[in-house]
Amino acid sequence: MMDNEKEVLVEIRDLDVRYKTRLGPVSAVDDVSFDIFQGEILGLVGESGCGKSTMGKALMRLLPPATDIHGKVIFDGADVLTFSEDQLRDFRGRRISMIFQDPMTSLNPVQRIDNHLVETIQVHEPDTKETDALSRIRGLVERLGIQKERIEDFPHQLSGGMRQRVMISLGLVLNPSLIIADEATTSLDVIVEAKFLDELREILDEFGVSILVITHNIALVAELADRIAVMYAGRIAELGSIYSVFDNPLHPYTKGLLQSVPSIKLDEREVLYKMPGEPPNLTHPPPGCRFHPRCPEVMPICSNHTPSLLHVTSKQMVNCWLYQDHPEKDQPTIEVAT
Ligand SMILES: Nc1ncnc2c1ncn2[C@@H]1O[C@H](COP(=O)(O)OP(=O)(O)O)[C@@H](O)[C@H]1O
Ligand SMILES: [Mg+2]
Repeated sequence: MMDNEKEVLVEIRDLDVRYKTRLGPVSAVDDVSFDIFQGEILGLVGESGCGKSTMGKALMRLLPPATDIHGKVIFDGADVLTFSEDQLRDFRGRRISMIFQDPMTSLNPVQRIDNHLVETIQVHEPDTKETDALSRIRGLVERLGIQKERIEDFPHQLSGGMRQRVMISLGLVLNPSLIIADEATTSLDVIVEAKFLDELREILDEFGVSILVITHNIALVAELADRIAVMYAGRIAELGSIYSVFDNPLHPYTKGLLQSVPSIKLDEREVLYKMPGEPPNLTHPPPGCRFHPRCPEVMPICSNHTPSLLHVTSKQMVNCWLYQDHPEKDQPTIEVAT
């Protein structure tokens, strides 16, 4: 465990997700293991297509039926990947919930906010009376900064920021232990987003839930999260506390990612780093370390052996041959004389 004070909420072990497509299997998550602690905000970042949403959907068991999934997702001692449909219905919403990017697509346009929330409660808790559900909802939305009269509105009558807060109340209404926010603030403008993030942080401290924040925006994670997991081509490249990873990134991919984020200092004219190459096609991922074709520090071993995500310090793990040994690591490449 990385931090002795925190209890583990979710243990993800050796998770593989392969989508079936006409062009063959897409290895969207490959041998991923990590923990989510109770009450933490964990940021999952990486370029588009690296498997972030697939990770989130695997935790919720929301993947297409034909998808190959292997490994374990242990939540409260039980493996979510073995749950029946009945167990899943109870699990989703009550133990884990998801906040999506666009509230307008998740809220019913012809249903008032209060009815939507009451329905969510009653589907999971059929014995709860409507009046009890309503008073719970009023308390919750007020804590989220929505005036309680506004819950009688329809979604289109609310501003973008307000709708996002309604989404959060939907996520919180059943008191789950984990909320997955997948690009949840991408549709907000930066001012609303910053305000929203501050509020989110306060709310989470108050409710004590854990959140997995999925985003391509590493700056957002820096501001919001306790820990960061950097994903590349279906694997975790680096994982650790925000302070250790941002102060001392170890994986060449993390280093590149951090150097490609503009700083807000106006007095420094900086040259942003542009990472060479493109993320790989996950129908044919590169052998060995999947980052090796783009890596500025590539070694011969990287193209034929896969490294593991290992601790380098108590607060930081990295998945890279620069930090681990292998009998073949120091062997030079054999040059064939012609
Ligand atoms: N339903 C699907 N069927 C086939 N391939 C998919 C499906 N969903 C995602 N993928 C592929 O899986 C990989 C990871 O996608 P995704 O998890 O959406 O990445 P991210 O959220 O990081 O952008 C991509 O190569 C994507 O094209
Ligand atoms: Mg995504």
